[in-house]
Amino acid sequence: MNSELSAHPRRRSHSLLTGLVTLLAGVPLWVNAQNTTVAIRAAEPGKAISPDLFGVFFEDLNYAADGGLYAELIQNRSFEYSPTEQADWRPLKFWELQKRGGGEGSVGVADMRPIHERNPHYALLTVQTPGEGVGIANGGFDGIPLKAGETYEASFWAYQPFMGQMWGQGDNDKPMPVTLRLETKSGEVLAETSLRVQGREWRRLSAKFKPSRTVVDARLVLLAHATGGLCLDMVSLFPEKTFRNRANGLRADLAQAVADLKPKFMRFPGGCLVHGGGVHRYYDWKRSVGPVEQRRAGPNTTWGYHQTMGLGYFEYFQFCEDIGAKPLPVVTAGVCCQHAGSSPGRGQEGLPLEEMPHYIQDVLDLIEWANGPATSKWGGVRAAAGHPEPFGLKYLGVGNEDAITPIFKERFKSVYNAVKEKHSEITVIGTVGPFASGGDYDNGWAFAKELRLPMVDEHYYVSPQWFWDNLSRYDKYDRGGAKVYVGEYAAHDRDKTRGTLRSALAEAAGMIAFERNGEVVSFASYAPLFARRNHTQWHPDLIYFTGTEVHLTASYFVQQLFGQNSGDAYLETTISAAVKPPTLAVSAVRESKSGDVIVKIVNGAAAPAPLQVALSGLMSGELKATKTVLTGPSADAYNEEGQPLAVKPVSNEITLKPAFDYETPANSLTVFRIRK
Ligand code: AHR
Repeated sequence: MNSELSAHPRRRSHSLLTGLVTLLAGVPLWVNAQNTTVAIRAAEPGKAISPDLFGVFFEDLNYAADGGLYAELIQNRSFEYSPTEQADWRPLKFWELQKRGGGEGSVGVADMRPIHERNPHYALLTVQTPGEGVGIANGGFDGIPLKAGETYEASFWAYQPFMGQMWGQGDNDKPMPVTLRLETKSGEVLAETSLRVQGREWRRLSAKFKPSRTVVDARLVLLAHATGGLCLDMVSLFPEKTFRNRANGLRADLAQAVADLKPKFMRFPGGCLVHGGGVHRYYDWKRSVGPVEQRRAGPNTTWGYHQTMGLGYFEYFQFCEDIGAKPLPVVTAGVCCQHAGSSPGRGQEGLPLEEMPHYIQDVLDLIEWANGPATSKWGGVRAAAGHPEPFGLKYLGVGNEDAITPIFKERFKSVYNAVKEKHSEITVIGTVGPFASGGDYDNGWAFAKELRLPMVDEHYYVSPQWFWDNLSRYDKYDRGGAKVYVGEYAAHDRDKTRGTLRSALAEAAGMIAFERNGEVVSFASYAPLFARRNHTQWHPDLIYFTGTEVHLTASYFVQQLFGQNSGDAYLETTISAAVKPPTLAVSAVRESKSGDVIVKIVNGAAAPAPLQVALSGLMSGELKATKTVLTGPSADAYNEEGQPLAVKPVSNEITLKPAFDYETPANSLTVFRIRK
């Protein structure tokens, strides 16, 4: 038995000295109150709560998609970077002309004869003097990380353009010999192979490599070895080991970090991203499906970088399926964000009403793509991508943090009515503005009532104290009205770049309140999920990463503990104390699949809190349990990259009695999973 646990009635005596020390340290005396009891009706059925309460929200910001979850290692593979993304970005950005061993030639950009009209630009390489090769090199996103012994697949599309007699190559019908090489920045060859490009039609060529050693900043080099020309597009490099070994797949370590959260759903692809930077710049899901070389890449107009759309709707849905999460795509309500009108300062704009039928059809097509039979038009596109069975979409977010104006209402209503009429299997989730209260929140809720919406999406990025002050928020919500999806939330500490233990525990306390109200709060997801170091537009985030590393924050471990220990019945829990500690939050749920009872306790105080816990109705005798404690040296602690984890969960197998004393550590979340 753990030292902090002891059985009634021999309660631990609390020393006068400890009380004095905490008093002197300025900690309120109630923290050490002797008589805080937690009574849990552990043998009763409890009330049914959402079995899908905790999930994730993936937004393509902070390079979460390209350069992040999407495993592509080449940056600007299809020569579509443009100044609309960043002022100095051009189609050849991140590519360098290579002239090796006396080679002479040049590279330009062409759009005369693209692979596909949706992928208009490609590179035109001309070789005047082959020397030891003329070509192009790409260093990926801050260097290409390679592991010795792992397999990588490089591929590119190419054809031989007609070069006439220009360089004495005759009718140019000889194949162009090409070297594909992985090398270090200083030119050390890590792996290479030879290929031949022949013909005037676009064709995909590929080769597999095993680099000879591990490097974090390699580059891919493609060299041509004869006079003449080469058109090149979709120059790509993937690790063979993607998550679940999917082709065009996801970075295994990042995808695994999400899978380890055991999310019950995943919302995507944004957030504000869904609106885009103007009314006609919304995220168009149709651009993101079909063969990758035919997808329309373009600017991420919300966050100011590029989207290849290589991570598209098929990949999102497939990932959801792979990790057992329900897909929850979000589409706009036919308006842009009130902060991002197409001309600055114009605010929210709606799609012209005559365009709404077309837009609504796109939304209906999305549902057909996800759920329709393979014989249907859009179900056929899904099937052609390798998934003939429907994905079983059940939820659709419409709108994100919108100002609830007449422009919004008119368009939202038409999208909602169309989906309701044609697809009773879909639950539409509306929006109640960007904040936890205020005009849009009130108007959004009133509108939800008027339309009898089944669910709405609330967002709040607030201080840790706000969470503690609002633990009873959902106790007051109407059980007969719309359900709540807390689609984005996070506790922002003073320094937002540090995901402190204080923030994580405040979020945990909030999640305890979500559980207690799990009959009205159906879903909740922390935001944002991912951030690539040095390419981050928003702090704090749940998971930071580089090309090779994954950094888990204190908040990540809270999400993980809740995701791995969620239930589907809430067990009545009563906290009794002379003065109820405002920094204590407790919940108890049952996971019906296993029959386990799960008790979560957050102590947000800077001193331990002694509790007497009673699990009423359980057989006396010894109960087997896993006890996990997440804590750190202080509330300010955070997980600093390159350092051992300051905040991390520690688990022990223990036995306990149905009534036991527990001194919950200062600044901690404890999870008891008590086996049936
Ligand atoms: O999560 C980051 C942003 O916060 C989202 O894009 C938006 O919905 C919210 O304002």
